[in-house]
Amino acid sequence: MKKASLNDIAIHLGVSKTLVSFVLNGRGKEFRISDDICQKVMDAAKEMNYQPNRIAQGLRTGKTNTIGLIIADIANPFFGKLGREIEKEAALNGYSVIFCSSDENPEKSKQQIAMLQQSQVDGYIISPPMNSEPQIRALSKGRTPFVLIDRYFADIETNYIVVDNFDAAYKATTHLLKLGRKKIANITVNLDLVNMKARTEGYKKALTDNGILVDKNLIKVLPFSHESMDISLAITELVGHKEDLKADAILFSTSKLGLNGIECISALGLKIPDDIAIVSFDNADAYKICVSPVTVVAQPLQEIGKKAVNIILDKINSPNGTPKFQQYTLKTEFIIRKSCGY
Ligand code: RIB
Repeated sequence: MKKASLNDIAIHLGVSKTLVSFVLNGRGKEFRISDDICQKVMDAAKEMNYQPNRIAQGLRTGKTNTIGLIIADIANPFFGKLGREIEKEAALNGYSVIFCSSDENPEKSKQQIAMLQQSQVDGYIISPPMNSEPQIRALSKGRTPFVLIDRYFADIETNYIVVDNFDAAYKATTHLLKLGRKKIANITVNLDLVNMKARTEGYKKALTDNGILVDKNLIKVLPFSHESMDISLAITELVGHKEDLKADAILFSTSKLGLNGIECISALGLKIPDDIAIVSFDNADAYKICVSPVTVVAQPLQEIGKKAVNIILDKINSPNGTPKFQQYTLKTEFIIRKSCGY
């Protein structure tokens, strides 16, 4: 299919070439072009197979209208959905997104940042893996704007958008306690990640605030690359105890843990919530169709995506007109379903 030019798009829509150029260079809002017209221009560019030469554009204007996104695990629905929200908001502003998945591996993340630098991206949105502080510090010394999502490093001043993991886990655990559950377990991963650590701390605080001693046998920490065998062992240890010791509820710190956990619980012939109540972080689609739909802590993915893109655009379009750092801790939504026994 022939590649369309800016002029072709302008003629097709009956607008000026300048307007098309402003929109496709992410300057529609700056020139008060309506969202409707911007969307029409972008739709036409897609339909007519308009392919901007990003490198030539970069050399000419110092901008490529691309954002580099490094998420932890592209196969994980949480990150997949978050990436889609980021891409949607970027496209509305005339930006493309280059996707990378670090698999929580700092060496991979470092290589991906280098590749994105060579691609002359205009900004980075990064979910930083454990032990990636050196590369984040190096980015802080550079001029290209970046924002951390999902987790951050307390000792490095950066833009970030996270959720209140402590509060979410505290409220989820308190809800289970109010329903009469007394032996509440927590299955989590990589406690070195600030978000995972906060979830377990919120769980613990809810227990102690309700006069229940934290039992370390009820906290299972699995490696990020956990396999179903790891989950199976953790669940068996939690429910295989004598009646007075075994867990009667589990807080899963991620949906990947929760989905594997439900499979193990069912394989053991246990009923949710009768034998064991469960609550999980992340509103995985599969949770809604479980025999006992799962009570979840849902993160505001659209808000995270929009904020992340707009922090980058703020820095690009008005570097001196915005706060040095924009840092957001967003509230989560607690969606109560049958799995916790109401
Ligand atoms: O696996 C996805 C989970 O881990 C989400 O809760 C997100 O916060 C990530 O860190």
